[in-house]
Order: sequence, then structure tokens, then C-alpha cells
Amino acid sequence: MVDVGMRFKLQQDIFGKRLPPERIRDLLVFELPRESSTLDAVLESFERTALPPCKNEASPRFLGFGDTGDDPAALAGGLLALFTQQNLINQSFDSPSATFVEIAVLRWLRDLLGYDNPPVADIRTVWDVGGVITHGGTTSNAAAMMLAREHKEPETMHGGVRNPGQFGVIVPRGIGHYSVKSSLTWIGVGDQAIEVDTRTFRYDLVELERAVRRHRGQIMAVIAYAGDSRTQTVEHLRRVHDVVRAIDPRIWLHVDACWGLVAAFSDQLRHLIDGISEFDSVTVDPHKVMAVPYSLSALLVREPSSLRAVSSYSDLIMQEDYAFGQVTPFIGTKGWLSLKLWMMMLSRGRAGLAALAEHRVNKARRFAALLDEHPRLLRLHEPDLAAVAFVYVPSDIRPEPPLPEQHIARINEVNQGIHERMLAEGTWYLHQFSLPDDHGRLRAGATLYPLRFMANNPRTTEAHMAQVIDYVTKLGGELEGDIR
Ligand SMILES: Cc1ncc(COP(=O)(O)O)c(C=O)c1O
Repeated sequence: MVDVGMRFKLQQDIFGKRLPPERIRDLLVFELPRESSTLDAVLESFERTALPPCKNEASPRFLGFGDTGDDPAALAGGLLALFTQQNLINQSFDSPSATFVEIAVLRWLRDLLGYDNPPVADIRTVWDVGGVITHGGTTSNAAAMMLAREHKEPETMHGGVRNPGQFGVIVPRGIGHYSVKSSLTWIGVGDQAIEVDTRTFRYDLVELERAVRRHRGQIMAVIAYAGDSRTQTVEHLRRVHDVVRAIDPRIWLHVDACWGLVAAFSDQLRHLIDGISEFDSVTVDPHKVMAVPYSLSALLVREPSSLRAVSSYSDLIMQEDYAFGQVTPFIGTKGWLSLKLWMMMLSRGRAGLAALAEHRVNKARRFAALLDEHPRLLRLHEPDLAAVAFVYVPSDIRPEPPLPEQHIARINEVNQGIHERMLAEGTWYLHQFSLPDDHGRLRAGATLYPLRFMANNPRTTEAHMAQVIDYVTKLGGELEGDIR
């Protein structure tokens, strides 16, 4: 089984086989056979049918999302978590030591972000820890929104939402992650997002101040992104904090640092997240940036006891001091997700984490420099972390802003065509999404469909960067003739 996994990860290709979804459906969706099979036969069937179309994030040509989850210690931790089968819902009989490994990991993350940790001897309950491990950034953000709601109107957990209008949440327009807006609907306060204009992918602070004043009394939280989902631009956290607190100190301040956690590892990069420890809560996603396999996220809170506000009591979850099941909304049984991070962090140490962060950021800067040398490729932002978004500009368009609408439409069409062809061919992968032109590189405010390079893949070399640039340019050249 380990050999199958290793062969898969070490293959150069992203896909062993590229098939349309219906072909894969017809191959894999069948009735349960009556007869039993040997494990060998099941494994053989898996390798033949389900495995070849799988995406291999460890391919050096996969430049799509987060990292590849390939840290050897993290993989070992993931396997041992499967074998040991601990359940973090309770401590005494379900996870006698796993609970304390989880606590150690949460404290390491808190420390990196600059949150204070109490002395170990004072950790007497789960409410002294200041964080919880969850399955992903979406769950962590949803728990943060519950905290904000309880902070605004205590006991809403029990009494229900009475006046949804008081639970407004300020988010940056066009660059936020859907998980915050979706959470508001899941926790019953409705569509309460208040979008505020941005500049260079950060809040326009004048507009932010205006919005906080205008909606005074109706806002439960302000969300800031330390690395948004598109360009990974890191918000000026201290400035956002100061603007909001000066007007209304009771508003819950939440940072989504799913990507930005990486800046906490290095003395050279930490200035990017200056002010983060003044925020009430922070979401981090080690499965995006710490080379650990899916899935693993954490919600950390400045004031550990604040988690009491979203705790549940049940006679099924042990009412014991160290039962994490009491403080993890939406989650019952929970595997030992934190073991892979514990192993990864121990094996790398602080110096190794710093090296990982700096290597990625330097690689992103190098890719940005390659784009800047290229006459047909235009970079759309200054890279703070590992993401670099750019567009191919057809040869009949001079990229001098502001471009007319029809040029923007043509650039978008060609870049969407590039992405489509890339996806169909499966040799390289760059991500694509809609993005406001917040730096006005083509036309301020226009909606663009860029390609995005991510520098997180440790197997991607300088040669791969040059090759993907050639590939995009080749596809762009072919498509610009076709699309007129
Ligand atoms: C900024 C941000 N927040 C939250 C999430 C959600 O994380 P997850 O997919 O781990 O639930 C993402 C995912 O891409 C993200 O980019």
C-alpha cells in the first residue's frame, strides 16, 4: 500500500490518465458485488480504475493550490493516526495522550502568532488552551462567526436569533472567501455580510471607517485576510484593528490566516502579520501551508476562555476537563488530525519552518521576475506570499491602462481559453478565478480571469517555472489567432 502511494506521488505527471467525468463515472459507479474479494484484488482494482485519473499534487508541474502535503514526518503522523484510532472527542479513555499532543500543537501555533500561552501547569481544562483543531478553514471560520455572534448577543446559542440585523459582518469586496458568508447562513443570522471596497487587495481604510460608523451597533465582526484566497495579499492588520477599535471596541476582530500563517515562521516575514495577536480570533490552515496532508485547520482565540461561549454539554461527551468534544462546534468524533502536524513541526523545528517559508516566498518573487521580463505576460499584484496572478496579453493589445472594455473581454477570453486547454491536456496546472483589477494594471475595477502560479510545491524548480511560462505563451499564441 505504501509502495502504491509512493509510486503515485513520485510520478512526474499530474494525471496518470485524463478522462471525461462521465467515463470515470461509468467506470466507478457500479452495484456492490455479492461475492467478497481478497484485499489484493481490491487493491489491484483500485490501481487500475480509481488511481490513474487522480490528481497528483506532488507533480512538479502542479502549480495550483496549496502545498503537496508531502512532508515525510507529516505523512508518518497521518499513517500512525490511522493505525492508532484515537478519538479526540473525549480524553480519559478515548485519547489519553493524543489530547495533550493536540494541546502542544495548538500552543506552538499560538506562540508563532504571538498569542500568550499560560504556563503548562495552568492548563487544567480545554478552556485554558485557546484553540481547537478542526477539519478545515471553513469549519474554523464558522466557529469564529459563532463566537462573534455570542459575543454580540450572549446566549443566542440557547435562545435563538431574535434580531438578525445586529449581526452584520464586514468583509472586503470581491476577495473574501465564501466560508465566512456561508457560515452566517449556517449559524442562522442570514446574509449579513457588508462588503467594503478594497485597494490593492486590502481594505480601503477610509471606506472601512465609514462602514463601521454607518452600521454602528449592527456589526458583530470585521474579517481581515492575512493572505486572501486569490493573490494572498496580507492585510495591514494593525491598521484595520486600530480603525475598528477606535470606533467600537466590542466588535469581534477575526483574521483568516489560512495562507498567512506561513509569515509567522520567519523573522524576515513576520512583519507582514504585525498586529495579528491583537485580533480576537485567527483561523489557520496547516493543510494549505505546512506540507501536511489533508485535512487540518485550527481556530485560535486571543482569550482562551472565550471558547466557553460556544461549548456544548452532553452526557455522551464526557463532562471531563480535557474533553475537546465540548469546545468544537459542528464536530463530534474527531481523529488524531494533529499528530501529523506535531511530527512535522518537531522534525523541522523553528529553523526548518523559517526556511520553508522563506524558500516559498523567494520562489514566488523569482517567478514574478520571470513574468516581468516577458513581453506578453502581465503580473496583477505584488506577491506577499506564494501566489502570483498574471494574464497573457494578446500581441495586438498594448497593456497600457485604462484598456477599453472590448480589450478586457478579449484578454479574459484568451486566458480562459488557456486555462481550459491546460485542464484538458493535464500536463500543467495553474488555477483560475475571477479577480478585480485592484492595482489598475489593465483597468481599475475590471473583472479579470487570470492564471495563478503557486510557489508551494517543493519539487518545482527554476526550469519548471521557465517551462510553464513557455507553455502558457504557446497556448496564448495559438488561441489569440482563434479568438477575435
Ligand atoms: C482564505 C481562505 N479561507 C478559508 C478557506 C477554506 O478552507 P478549507 O478548504 O480548508 O475549508 C480557504 C480555502 O481555500 C481560503 O483560501
